[in-house]
Amino acid sequence: MQIPRLHPDTVEVIKERADIVDVISEHVVLRKRGKDFIGLCPFHNEKSPSFSVSPSKQMYFCFGCQTGGNVFTFLTSVQKRSFSEVALDLAQRYQVHVKTLEPEQRQELQRQMSLRDQLYEVLASAANFYQHALKQPQGKIALDYLQQKRRFNDEVIQQFGLGFAPGGWETLYRYLVETKGYPVQLLEKAGLIKSRKEGNGYYDVFRDRLMIPIHDAMGRVIAFGGRTLGDDQPKYLNSPETEVFFKGKTLFALDKARNGISREDKAIVVEGYFDAIALHAVGITNVVASLGTALSMEQVRLVLRYSDSKQIILNFDADKAGVNAAERAIGEIADLAYKGEVQLKILNIPDGKDADEYLYTHDSSDYQQLVNSAPLWLDWQIKQIIKDRDLKQATDYQLVSQGVVKLLKNIVNKDTLDYYVSYCAEILTLGDTRLIPLRIENLLTQIGPSATSPKSFPVRVNREQATQYTQEQSTTESQEFKIPKQAGNLLQHAEALLLKIYLHYHRYREMIVNALEERDLQFSLSHHRFLWQQIIENPSPTEKDLISSLQDRYLEFPEEMSLIAHLLHLTEKAQQEMIFYQEKLILAAVAAMERVNCEKLSRYFLELYEKADEKGEVQESQSYYQAFYKYKLRLWELDRQRHFSITDLF
Ligand code: UTP
Ligand code: MN
Repeated sequence: MQIPRLHPDTVEVIKERADIVDVISEHVVLRKRGKDFIGLCPFHNEKSPSFSVSPSKQMYFCFGCQTGGNVFTFLTSVQKRSFSEVALDLAQRYQVHVKTLEPEQRQELQRQMSLRDQLYEVLASAANFYQHALKQPQGKIALDYLQQKRRFNDEVIQQFGLGFAPGGWETLYRYLVETKGYPVQLLEKAGLIKSRKEGNGYYDVFRDRLMIPIHDAMGRVIAFGGRTLGDDQPKYLNSPETEVFFKGKTLFALDKARNGISREDKAIVVEGYFDAIALHAVGITNVVASLGTALSMEQVRLVLRYSDSKQIILNFDADKAGVNAAERAIGEIADLAYKGEVQLKILNIPDGKDADEYLYTHDSSDYQQLVNSAPLWLDWQIKQIIKDRDLKQATDYQLVSQGVVKLLKNIVNKDTLDYYVSYCAEILTLGDTRLIPLRIENLLTQIGPSATSPKSFPVRVNREQATQYTQEQSTTESQEFKIPKQAGNLLQHAEALLLKIYLHYHRYREMIVNALEERDLQFSLSHHRFLWQQIIENPSPTEKDLISSLQDRYLEFPEEMSLIAHLLHLTEKAQQEMIFYQEKLILAAVAAMERVNCEKLSRYFLELYEKADEKGEVQESQSYYQAFYKYKLRLWELDRQRHFSITDLF
């Protein structure tokens, strides 16, 4: 079809309605940064994000390659399509009535556009038919299956619009064509019927199957999955791809999971329709199902739009577990994970069960615990590599070492790489920490030239940000503990967190005081020191007493108090998030505070060592190196404490 020229009014309305963040986040993983969003620029190759999108201006701009524009320029460049094509798509998406300049073309256009609307309509009608059939005598076998085998109540059956496709060859066909008067071609285009090979006539695609409607994010029926009630193959028959159904761009139950995903700030992706339904049924609603295929980039972006911290928990069959199976299921997003664009975690249910089976014998809080302790993708992979290997055996050692090198090679982010290199080096030393520097060198050499720094250990690991990834990692468990890039902020957050726990959780006070005293730690920010001073002077038995007596200080110290006022309140969200983690958070925060001293000392001794070494003072340089190394080891230990998921693993 030749694309008609659009009326300028139409273009204006599209501009008003289309949301640039919405549109761009289908192509770029965006993170919120202040008022704006940032991400990796799609127009040039980059490793750290310089592409920024402004919702208030409805513009984007890349500080790296200096390109910028609005929704139209973005889509025309990214999709390499004409202005009119892009505009038409947007018009349809944001339901803008299209006026064209040539009236005769307008008719053709409307015909095209309304095909999709007609498809939605006939699919909804089919869904109703199946739902109705489930409640008829012929549907009893399916209803029994849902109620008895799957233990779903009517509410769940209703919510997911489950139904039954009767056994005849033409029941749906007759209902939709003869009773409802839909055109035969429309049913065919909707993937509901097929034409008979021999001669003419049509037959129903779905027969004698339990029907699961698939909805788009807006809740419109776009396809069906049909499960056999017997043993025939395939177990699930799915609609073919149509004008409204694209497998790689669809996630089952997304329409019902959107709110849950934003509320929890993470999305759980399961494999099966029934896994998703069963989890929703027990109140875990941030769950979608992939349609039995590897995850595509589009699918990931779909869910990530609802999670600010970009967390995805992939729950797939442990039976098939193994790094290869994981990689297959993770599909295209492995790349995003290596770049650190998504926080991908892997959940394996014990005993090779799927979520649905697990819930037969466990409740939702058990599952939630599995979610909370799911390891990060890289940690999980390392664990897979060393699983069942005996590092004391030469062949196993070699396999593990090759395995981790292959893995480390993929890591794009330098800080992440540094972190995992020292982590793997440590595993490979079998507890002999003196060997760590050597192993680090080995790994770096094997990973290749790009990873090797000009100066070898110890200068390399002494780099300011060498462990920054750890800081980011320890944030994944709790929003409260979200730590931005700069080391200064890390400390600030750690201190604030510690003070919050002290103020709001009476039972951890002793632990906090002990930890600080034991390690001789001071708060580094003056207003934190101020608050600590007030706390020490004010031994109150309960949280309430302490906070109210602190509030009395407003009059006397308005400035200091305004800086710490936010610590006196805990949002409900923060409370929920902290609830399982107080102890770990305290350890992590204290470790972050100690880390700063330790880092300074190690750097100090390193300088002394380098000077002495240059001058050829063997004895001094040796003892400086030892002092340096002592602090360096301590730093590793501290990073370990701040890094929850790894400590959980082993
Ligand atoms: P599984 O075969 O792992 O089974 O399919 P399941 O979901 O646990 O099935 P139940 O519990 O026996 O009903 C996982 C998903 O893969 C897709 C479906 O989306 C299914 O939910 N699949 C599976 C198909 O599309 N076709 C098939 O033949 C099998
Ligand atoms: Mn199952």
